Amino acid sequence: MSAPTLDRPTDEAALQQRFDATIAADRRIEPRDWMPDGYRKTLVRQIAQHAHSEIIGMQPEGDWLLAAPSLRRKAILLAKVQDEAGHGMYLYSAAETLGADRADLTDKLIEQKQKYSSIFNYPTLTYADVGVIGWLVDGAAICNQVPLCRSSYGPYARAMIRICKEESFHQRQGYELLMTMMGGTEEQRAMVQDAVDRWWWPSLMMFGPPDDDSPNSAQSMAWGIKRHSNDELRQRYVDMSVPQAQFLGVTLPDPDLHWDEETGHWRFGPIDWAEFKQVVSGNGPANAERIRRRRAARDDNAWVTEAATAYARKHAGAVTEGAA
Ligand SMILES: [Fe+2]
Ligand SMILES: [Fe+2]
Repeated sequence: MSAPTLDRPTDEAALQQRFDATIAADRRIEPRDWMPDGYRKTLVRQIAQHAHSEIIGMQPEGDWLLAAPSLRRKAILLAKVQDEAGHGMYLYSAAETLGADRADLTDKLIEQKQKYSSIFNYPTLTYADVGVIGWLVDGAAICNQVPLCRSSYGPYARAMIRICKEESFHQRQGYELLMTMMGGTEEQRAMVQDAVDRWWWPSLMMFGPPDDDSPNSAQSMAWGIKRHSNDELRQRYVDMSVPQAQFLGVTLPDPDLHWDEETGHWRFGPIDWAEFKQVVSGNGPANAERIRRRRAARDDNAWVTEAATAYARKHAGAVTEGAA
């Protein structure tokens, strides 16, 4: 008996039609569903880039784990950095549901065939950077990621729900650290201001190039992978951050920043896209170091993966034998 054709169309046109209807109805595409090649490729690229960013993002803050000024600060920072590892794992798993291989994605990152967020190529010079990363970098990540909870690809959207909850803890721990420092000595306040001066502009670049220079955005939005344009999200982030900066008592390093009564938005000065292009193409202050350490982690820990794989295989064999 052949499968009923109405429920399970097999020709490409009917499959495409079903896919389009699912997207139009704002329902989720699941791993078992047919999807256009371009949709699969775009998702693998975006999810891998996102996973790589979580894992590379552990480095700049991880550098401060041994130097955290108290047990409490160390526990908070350790929990945060571990969360980022977890985010990477959820996202690599989501990429695997699309047929990607985790080891292969890691190799592509190390060979610099796939990118990660440009923000993690800046160094963390003082402990205030830990607070500013939590406030601004995780804050920008939240603006980017909350709409991804409604992304059209089911496993990605579901991973993002948990990730976003943890990101909001990250942002709060950063802001709380900065509030504490701002209530401290003159020197501590200067450290916070210096960190804000260095991270503000790179955090604006996290939303990607401006809309008129973002060639893949329109297709990603039509597919429901992306829900808002880069410029929309960047504006939302600025509107959210300015009052937080005022409450904290720091100055954002932008002489053009002003309130626009007519539109109800904070307007900001021009972004240095030449710097962004340099950093994203591998020439930022810490790119080489980030990749060198990721490569060392892969190579030095290969025996752990091998041992775990051998154990899993042996265990699976024992279970099969037992069943027989
Ligand atoms: Fe994260
Ligand atoms: Fe985070």
